[in-house]
Amino acid sequence: MERIVLAYSGGLDTSVAVRWLAERYDAEVVAVTMDLGQGKELDDIRERALGVGAVRSHVVDVREEFAQDYVLPALQAGAVYEGKYPLATALGRPLITQKLVEIAEFENAGIIAHGCTGKGNDQVRMDVSARALNPDIRVVAPAREWGMTRPDEIEYARAHGIPIPASVDNPYSTDANLWGRSIECGVLEDPWTEPPEEIYMLTKAPEECPDAPAYVEVEFEAGVPTKVNGVAMPLTELINSLDTIAGAHGVGRIDMLENRLVGIKSREIYEAPAATLLHTAHRELEAIVIPKDLERIKHDMGRTYADLVYNGLWFTPAREAIDAFVAKVQERVNGVTRLKLYRGDCRVVGRKSPNALYETGLATYDEGDQFDHTAAEGFIRIWGLPLETTARQSRRRAAANS
Ligand code: ARG
Repeated sequence: MERIVLAYSGGLDTSVAVRWLAERYDAEVVAVTMDLGQGKELDDIRERALGVGAVRSHVVDVREEFAQDYVLPALQAGAVYEGKYPLATALGRPLITQKLVEIAEFENAGIIAHGCTGKGNDQVRMDVSARALNPDIRVVAPAREWGMTRPDEIEYARAHGIPIPASVDNPYSTDANLWGRSIECGVLEDPWTEPPEEIYMLTKAPEECPDAPAYVEVEFEAGVPTKVNGVAMPLTELINSLDTIAGAHGVGRIDMLENRLVGIKSREIYEAPAATLLHTAHRELEAIVIPKDLERIKHDMGRTYADLVYNGLWFTPAREAIDAFVAKVQERVNGVTRLKLYRGDCRVVGRKSPNALYETGLATYDEGDQFDHTAAEGFIRIWGLPLETTARQSRRRAAANS
């Protein structure tokens, strides 16, 4: 008998998938549910999985691994897709796939399965990651194969005695983990329609935010955020507490028109309070410790890294090589960024570092100026030389033609 390891969320799609896979492939289905910090109680997930026909259910807490090995490198790389999306879902997929493959190997299963549809990025990320980790494993995506609509699925569930989760009435499709939350479908599919307030769970509307701003100081040690307002915290806890503070001040709402890997433009809403705040804080600290030429190289790498992550290429030598580059840069990234949170705005108001390349003696317009003003003259003469040469040449031609 075939054995299939299925990524099981407890929602309608994957609940129907347990039964559908068992029948279609004449297989035993092993359900795997992971905690990536999505904030959903997973207490009864095991009973649910077994209740819909799984032969076994594994529940794995991968929050720490997710934060250390996926979120942190992406933060340090400055990986923000198309300048807006901090990549929560995209970073989670390779880890989920890695766990599925590990459990499949240990369960002696030849197939892994997931609930992704046939028009999103997630199917690509998971299928491609699985092949990178174990080319012999087969990946099956029931929702891509079965051709059922939502009502068909509900009908299927009824006919097979599969309990229908309460979330089935929700017109939105959401995904969440430690690094953020995404909301799609329903009225959001009209890119002109303002998102209704009801879709947000992590962030307050600007109108509802406190009247007084909050100040947050984030300390980094070698590029790792270690303290908030002077209090040391492990990474997952630090992210959770920043989600709370930033979310309460309405920070981290993202409304974006995004280019999917599968060629579709889609309207996406994200909530990523901690990710927004941490990217802002980290980037600003880099600005004070990193030389100009390196800043430009690193900025371009960040965009490349974001594209790699988005496009499902986590398990590649390219990603590893950029990680090594970024890690080298992070050696310098020590210090504190001070941010002011106010009604959806997250603004840098201060930065300091023992490695600062900022020198008051060079920057000041006041007394104590150490910059050699006379040296500027010779520098500018040479800097402008090509411009002057070009101008002289076009004048000569103009004169010859008249
Ligand atoms: N567009 C985002 C991405 O590709 C969000 C995907 C959300 N996934 C989901 N299964 N709801 O990363």
